[in-house]
Amino acid sequence: MKKVLQIIDLHVSFRTYGGSVQAVRGVNLDVYENETLVIVGESGCGKSVTSQTMMRLLPAYSARVEQGEIWFRDKDLLSLSEKEMRSIRGVDISMIFQDPMTALNPTLTIGDQLMEAAKEHQKKTKKQVKEAAIRMLDLVGIPQPKERLKQYPHQFSGGMRQRLMIAMALICEPHVLIADEPTTALDVTIQAQILELFKDIQKKTGVTIILITHDLGVVAQVADRVAVMYGGKVVEIGTRRDIFYNPQHPYTKGLLHSVPRLDMKDELIPIEGSPPDLFAPPKGCPYTERCQEAMKVCDHLMPYETQCTQTHTVHCWLQDERAKQTIFTSTQRGSF
Ligand SMILES: Nc1ncnc2c1ncn2[C@@H]1O[C@H](COP(=O)(O)OP(=O)(O)OP(=O)(O)O)[C@@H](O)[C@H]1O
Ligand code: SF4
Ligand SMILES: [Mg+2]
Repeated sequence: MKKVLQIIDLHVSFRTYGGSVQAVRGVNLDVYENETLVIVGESGCGKSVTSQTMMRLLPAYSARVEQGEIWFRDKDLLSLSEKEMRSIRGVDISMIFQDPMTALNPTLTIGDQLMEAAKEHQKKTKKQVKEAAIRMLDLVGIPQPKERLKQYPHQFSGGMRQRLMIAMALICEPHVLIADEPTTALDVTIQAQILELFKDIQKKTGVTIILITHDLGVVAQVADRVAVMYGGKVVEIGTRRDIFYNPQHPYTKGLLHSVPRLDMKDELIPIEGSPPDLFAPPKGCPYTERCQEAMKVCDHLMPYETQCTQTHTVHCWLQDERAKQTIFTSTQRGSF
C-alpha cells in the first residue's frame, strides 16, 4: 500500500487567556492511497485540530504548530508558503465540514458556487467547467443536475446540501478528502445515505478519505482503518476488524462498551470521568485517571508505541514488555 499522507510527531497548541492548551501532543499517522481512515474519539481529543493542521487552516492569531511534519507526496505541508498551500487546498486535498450552510453562500446559485470552486484551480473552458459541475451533482446523487445548477442553497434540504458540499469538495478531483463530522447534523437515515455515498464515490474515483467522528456507528459503516484519539494523541490504530474485534487499549474497550451494538448482549457501561485537562496534561498516559488497569508506571511515563500485529499498534503499558523494566515496577498505584 502506498502512503499518501504522513503525519510525524505533530504538536499543536493554542494561546488563550487561561494559558496554553496543548491540543495535539505528538500525533503520528500514516494515510494510504484509496483507504477510508476514520479518526474517532471523545469531544476535545484533537480530531479537528489535527485535520485543520493538515489543511493549514488553524487560526493564525492563536494556534502554534510546536513541532512536526506532514508529508504529502514529496512536500512537507507545514513548510509551504500560504501561496503554495493554496494550490494544494481544494485541488489535491479537500475538506468538508459539519454544517454545510456555513460553507455555502446563500446569495449565489449552486452552479456559480460549484463552478467557482472548479475555475479557481483548473484551466478549463466555461463549457468544460459547467459539464464538470453537472457530472459532480450527478455523482453525489442530486437528481436533475442541470436544472439544480440554477437554484440557491435554501432550495436544498439538509441532506442535499451535504451532497452539494461533497460535490464542491470533489470537483477538482482531489487525492484526499477530509470530512470532519460530515453527518452529525443529519438524521439517521440521511446519515446512512451520505456514508454510502462516500463509499460509492471512493469506488468510482479512488479518492482517499479521512473521516472524523465521535460516532462508532459511523466507524463501523465506513472505516477501512481506525485511529482512536485521546488527550491529543493517537492511542490505538488498526483495521476496522482489529479495533472492533481485538481492541487493546482500555480506552478503545471503554468506547466499545459505551455504545449499543447489534451483536452486543452485555450491558452498556459509560466511561466514567472526563478527558484530561489539556492546559496541564498528565506527564504519563493521558488515560491514567480513568483507567481501571492503571499501574504506577502509567502516571509517570507516557507509553511508547507497541506493534501488536502488522496492521495494529497501541500506546499502552499493559502491552509493552518494557513496563517491567522501568523503575516504577509495582502494579499497585498510590504506593510510589
Ligand atoms: N481555536 C482554539 N482556541 C483554543 N483552544 C482550541 C481551539 N480549537 C480547539 N481548541 C482546543 O483544542 C482541543 C482539541 O480540540 P478539537 O476541536 O480538535 O477537538 P475534537 O476532537 O475535534 O472535538 P469535537 O468532537 O468536540 O469536535 C480542545 O481542548 C479544544 O478546546
Ligand atoms: S498505559 Fe496504563 S493508564 Fe494508560 S491505558 Fe494503559 S494501563 Fe491504562
Ligand atoms: Mg471536532
